[in-house]
Amino acid sequence: MIRGMTLPVAATLLAISAAALAATPGNPETGRQQYEAKCGGCHSLDSNRVGPRHRGVIGRRPGSVPGYAYSPAVKALGGVWTPNRMDQWLQDPQKLAPGSKMYLTVSSATTRRDIIAYLQSVSPPATKKPR
Ligand code: HEC
Repeated sequence: MIRGMTLPVAATLLAISAAALAATPGNPETGRQQYEAKCGGCHSLDSNRVGPRHRGVIGRRPGSVPGYAYSPAVKALGGVWTPNRMDQWLQDPQKLAPGSKMYLTVSSATTRRDIIAYLQSVSPPATKKPR
């Protein structure tokens, strides 16, 4: 009897934890470490480097940091950076904006989610207008 129940119970638990993972918000602290490791070579929060500075990027228009020489591809994107759009960008910048100057891809959905949570934590709340 117990043996007979083990498999369905395990399957149910797996399904529940998979659903919970999908709904879990990103972890900004893990995201900060990932950001420093994966993005820090080209980006920082407050200075333009190889890539543009990132503080406030969520909610901001793509290609809008003053003093940074963006590719025409990123400037042409329009709209604003949302968490969803950032997720697509990090999966493949060349797919979202063909011809962009960024090539790095982040294959782990969890890592993307954590990095986005971190970038959101250093962006002003959505009530403020993007600069
Ligand atoms: C090898 C250098 C390099 C690395 C590493 C890198 N980027 Fe970039 N990133 C760039 C460049 C260059 C641009 C400008 C793209 C353009 O103008 O086409 C850019 C642009 C961006 C933009 C657009 C910003 C804006 O103001 O519109 C975002 C968002 C971004 N990067 C996020 C990230 C994140 C998050 C990581 C780490 C997972 C990362 N980048 C890693 C070089 C890099």
